[in-house]
Amino acid sequence: MTYRRKLIEVALPLEAINKASVRESYIYRGNPSSLHKWWAQRPLAAARAVIFAQMVDDPSAHPDKFPTEETQERERQRLFRLIEELVQWESTTNETVLAYARDEIWKSWRATCAENRDHPCAKELFDPDKLPVFHDPFAGGGTLPLEAQRLGLESHTSDLNPVAVLINKALIEIPPKFAGRPPVNPELRKEGTLLQKEWHGTQGLAEDVRYYGQWMRDEAERRIGHLYPKAEVTVEIAKERPDLKPLVGRSLTVIAWLWARTVKSPNPAFAQVDVPLASTFMLSTKAGKEAYVEPVIEGSGYRGSSPSLRPASEADSKRRRAAY
Ligand SMILES: C[S@@+](CC[C@H](N)C(=O)[O-])C[C@H]1O[C@@H](n2cnc3c(N)ncnc32)[C@H](O)[C@@H]1O
Repeated sequence: MTYRRKLIEVALPLEAINKASVRESYIYRGNPSSLHKWWAQRPLAAARAVIFAQMVDDPSAHPDKFPTEETQERERQRLFRLIEELVQWESTTNETVLAYARDEIWKSWRATCAENRDHPCAKELFDPDKLPVFHDPFAGGGTLPLEAQRLGLESHTSDLNPVAVLINKALIEIPPKFAGRPPVNPELRKEGTLLQKEWHGTQGLAEDVRYYGQWMRDEAERRIGHLYPKAEVTVEIAKERPDLKPLVGRSLTVIAWLWARTVKSPNPAFAQVDVPLASTFMLSTKAGKEAYVEPVIEGSGYRGSSPSLRPASEADSKRRRAAY
């Protein structure tokens, strides 16, 4: 087998890759990490750059085309400019930039196939019309297979953790099956827009996810919404929390709930009370922003007070719980 050096073995425009990776971590909309944050999830930009640079030959691998160090460096710089463009967040949907990158990959792949046409397994291993398949056996949040797919490779993934498998199904397996298809939800069908519009990529699937996601949210609210009541801001609460004064009389949506298993109190005086097995009632321990919920006995159970902003240490919060 003829071996040619790949770009990644020689150099990468690291500064641009690092910058794009940091910027991307602040972008929420459209970022797969907003679907489910996976630990050790790699930045999309870095994954895109390294897969590209692994697939593309370094110019020094082609002395016939780039005979001197100067010509090789000039060509390398051209590839660097492409990578710098490719790693930008905006390029994730920029078909022109992606097409350039895919072309470069194909160019290197066809050169590799041509050089290895006499290999005994050339038919399976070096098919100039089929790029090598990408497999990430530790796929996690799916960054690498997603970027491989974006660069035109057929992607396969596996992972020990079923949540990671689900993320990868949502990210790389299901969307391509619906590429270019119109949505099926009754609302858009009713509007009669299906035939008037061309559905590119996963636009149709996205419409359906939006429609049925909203349906599921509404249905959940109808069935279990009563278990998540709104919190009324009373005059008493406002006395304790002057910041809530302008909101007295209003019902606010509760944005965080503390869940805990309960046991009967070992204290004979409260034997009928179900005590929550929570290690702390602190909501925030950030200096200057401390907040906690005070457990209040009501009948044979507990309810949480509205969050108190009075500075309270974690130890103080634990002491209050221990009192019951
Ligand atoms: C560092 S994470 C991968 C992160 C991924 N590159 C990304 O960008 O999201 C490592 C993954 O390997 C998986 N893993 C660990 N041991 C494994 C094993 N023996 N077989 C398959 N997957 C495994 C973990 O569940 C985890 O999702």
